[in-house]
Amino acid sequence: MSSANGQKSSRSLPDRLLNLSGLSWFLVAALGQWIFVYYVAAFYLPFLTGGGLASLDQADLPDGFIAGDMLHNIALAAHVLIAIVIIGGGPLQLIPQIRNSFPRFHRILGRTYMITAVLTSLAGLYMVWTHGVPGGPLAPFAISLDAVLIILFAAIAVRHAMRRQIDRHRRWAMRLFMVVSAVWFFRIGMMFWFMTTGGIGINTETFTGPFITFLYFGQMVVPLLFLEVYFRAQDSDSMIGKLIAAVLVFAATGATALGSFAATMGMWLPRL
Ligand code: HEM
Repeated sequence: MSSANGQKSSRSLPDRLLNLSGLSWFLVAALGQWIFVYYVAAFYLPFLTGGGLASLDQADLPDGFIAGDMLHNIALAAHVLIAIVIIGGGPLQLIPQIRNSFPRFHRILGRTYMITAVLTSLAGLYMVWTHGVPGGPLAPFAISLDAVLIILFAAIAVRHAMRRQIDRHRRWAMRLFMVVSAVWFFRIGMMFWFMTTGGIGINTETFTGPFITFLYFGQMVVPLLFLEVYFRAQDSDSMIGKLIAAVLVFAATGATALGSFAATMGMWLPRL
């Protein structure tokens, strides 16, 4: 969120706290996402480079490799390879110093990010609607909504960039970052929940339950709501509003750190 800074000067204490909260969330999220990227690369690349598509069979994904369905397996391979590019590159796009010092790099990575995010969403839609996805009857609709939001937000962000409406472009690019990161939020949200409640509302046998349904929609809705609160507080003249938003974003930073830690220790490291 720190990259949205710069619209207003940060003279007052509430402004500075708000900026600091955005920066701390961003740093924690970037680190958490790069750990996820490390897991995806270290887990899937040896399969793909060693045994090709067929070796994805051993990746143990509930609706992953499908014997005999070449198109599905190509979509899956493309999907995980693209995940490395977009989750790895997304945080770089939001760092103002990189944007300002290396504008050409920002443009090239930005185009790559948007094109690959749209392509992987289409691959995801194909996989979901041909072979399903774990998580209950609403899961395919929720994850498809994420795909639609990714395509929509990418189009809006590009349109503003082409019209040189840079503030609007930046805000839509940040909304895009949130919906592209939804699958990561899902994983850290679930592991945060297991760590703090022991998994209330999750049936671990069937991977269904009210909390899983909430998380399928919450993975995009909750981050977008927090981002909107942050934007509103930046635009507002209310000192109390800025302070409340800063407290909320600091709380989100703590939850993001805990969830990333729990996902790393409980989900990703054990698979490597
Ligand atoms: C754009 C951001 C996305 C990223 C970075 C991403 C990343 C991944 C990764 C890394 C996996 C492998 C699972 C793992 O090892 O944890 C995966 C699986 C999968 N993804 Fe995505 N994904 C994204 C969006 C989507 C969307 C929008 C859809 C559907 C519309 C989707 C559908 C699927 C499906 C069906 C699987 C296989 C699920 C399974 O069998 O468990 N993904 N994704």
